[in-house]
Amino acid sequence: MIVGVLKEGRAGESRVAATPATIQQIRKLGYDVVVDPGAGVAAGFTDSAYEAAGATVGDAAGADVVLGVNAPSPAQLDRVRPEATVIALFSPAFDPAMVEDLGRRPFTALSMDAVPRISRAQSMDVLSSMANIAGYRAVIEAAHEFGRFFTGQVTAAGKVPPAKVLVAGAGVAGLAAIGASGSLGAIVRATDPRPEVADQVRSLGGEYLSIASPEVEVSKTGYAKEMGDDYKAREAELYAAQCREVDIVITTALIPGRPAPTLITAEMVASMKPGSVIVDMAAANGGNVEGTVKGEKAVTDNGVTIIGYTDLAGRLSAQASQLYGTNLVNLLKLMTPGKDGLLVLDWDDPVQRSITVVREGESAWPPPPVQVSAAPAPAPAAAVAQPAPKKEPMTPKQKFGGVALGALALFLAVAFAPAALLPHVTVFVLAIVIGYYVIGHVHHALHTPLMSVTNAISGIIVVGALLQIGHTSTTVTVLSSVAILLASINVFGGFAVTRRMLAMFNRS
Ligand code: NAI
Repeated sequence: MIVGVLKEGRAGESRVAATPATIQQIRKLGYDVVVDPGAGVAAGFTDSAYEAAGATVGDAAGADVVLGVNAPSPAQLDRVRPEATVIALFSPAFDPAMVEDLGRRPFTALSMDAVPRISRAQSMDVLSSMANIAGYRAVIEAAHEFGRFFTGQVTAAGKVPPAKVLVAGAGVAGLAAIGASGSLGAIVRATDPRPEVADQVRSLGGEYLSIASPEVEVSKTGYAKEMGDDYKAREAELYAAQCREVDIVITTALIPGRPAPTLITAEMVASMKPGSVIVDMAAANGGNVEGTVKGEKAVTDNGVTIIGYTDLAGRLSAQASQLYGTNLVNLLKLMTPGKDGLLVLDWDDPVQRSITVVREGESAWPPPPVQVSAAPAPAPAAAVAQPAPKKEPMTPKQKFGGVALGALALFLAVAFAPAALLPHVTVFVLAIVIGYYVIGHVHHALHTPLMSVTNAISGIIVVGALLQIGHTSTTVTVLSSVAILLASINVFGGFAVTRRMLAMFNRS
């Protein structure tokens, strides 16, 4: 089959559905690729770069599998062949007219923005990959408008305080914005009605601002629900207080299937310092901020810039095209089980079913719901009914008894053991006491370097045991063999674990 890569028709769109790198991957699946002339120019990919990757330049709409970023124009759709499959961002959930139009056409249409947010589909989750880029770009746009450093500095010319950034909504875009703001050196705070994101915010160096409302609960779907009046009143208090203090606000709040909730009122904007910047990422969906102009930058009377751009991902067009293209390659891999260049739509696969808007001319929208669970697995009933018995701390009497018993054992060992054993017993006892206090107080985060120390000790044990293994006494030989075995497990196990950990940091 031939895969066609369309030139985007929408004004201002700079992304493209395939890059030279993803075209090579598509070709490895057995497809030939044809690219519209100039399809990748806005993203920095020339026709000759596509040809060098093995594609031909021609009419992409006439291919067997047609790839686009946005929904193709009516003229492009008219050229699609009846048995073809078109894959793009059709936004069927928000665009009933598009669903109706597609329903009248004879081909198959798959919408990448309908990929369910389940673990198995993560590699195809276009909304996440675009929101990740957009969250990063929101910070860059804010930094560009903000007339000062993000990071605090002490210079000969004076002290510069760090910028304070508030991120409303810690989903994919929000977490990317927290990470990027923190990397630039700002003090970052974030809030979200889903309390489970608190750890993620902290892991990126942000401070999680919780809202003490009984409505706050762990989400079962990974998405927030519409919050009640109590939560809204408390969050309004928090936003009002934060707006007076922070320099940058980035709003990303989204509740699926609803217009974006208004979080920042005109009054709050008016309370911000002149020169402050707000990036309203939800501008396309109604906006989280009063005064946002969709797709535009507006400056209020008190000098606050409100950015309502809806093309933040496209502003990093080469990166966005690469990630979108990789999401498409992952879908093609799923739909090309034989790696033979033949696209197969598996109707029983929930991912493929979820993204199908039209199948061979038959409308398939809306798809059945997919079971999504982002909530932590509930504890087994038995464990809840019978909590593990709590270990009681030792009473002073028990502690004293234990110490006395140990001292007596030590006295007997020293009194009756041969003189040659005495220094060994002393070293052994000291090792136990010092080891207990030193290792017991090592922070959990440092257990890996600690492991290399224990590896060194195990190495010494192996050397000692090797020297003893030829001893005339069978007991010594057996003990030496056991020591070599146990110490070797530690050494080789340590190497294996370290190798696995290093692999996590391997860029390739
Ligand atoms: P997401 O669903 O991963 O995150 C949204 C977050 O908002 C969730 O964590 C949710 O709990 C939170 N939220 C809901 N109600 C809230 C409230 N009252 N206060 C604070 N947080 C609240 O969505 P994702 O993918 O991160 O996208 C975020 C927004 O960015 C969406 O509106 C999306 O359309 C938009 N977006 C904008 C782009 C642009 O160019 N402007 C590009 C990509 C995404």
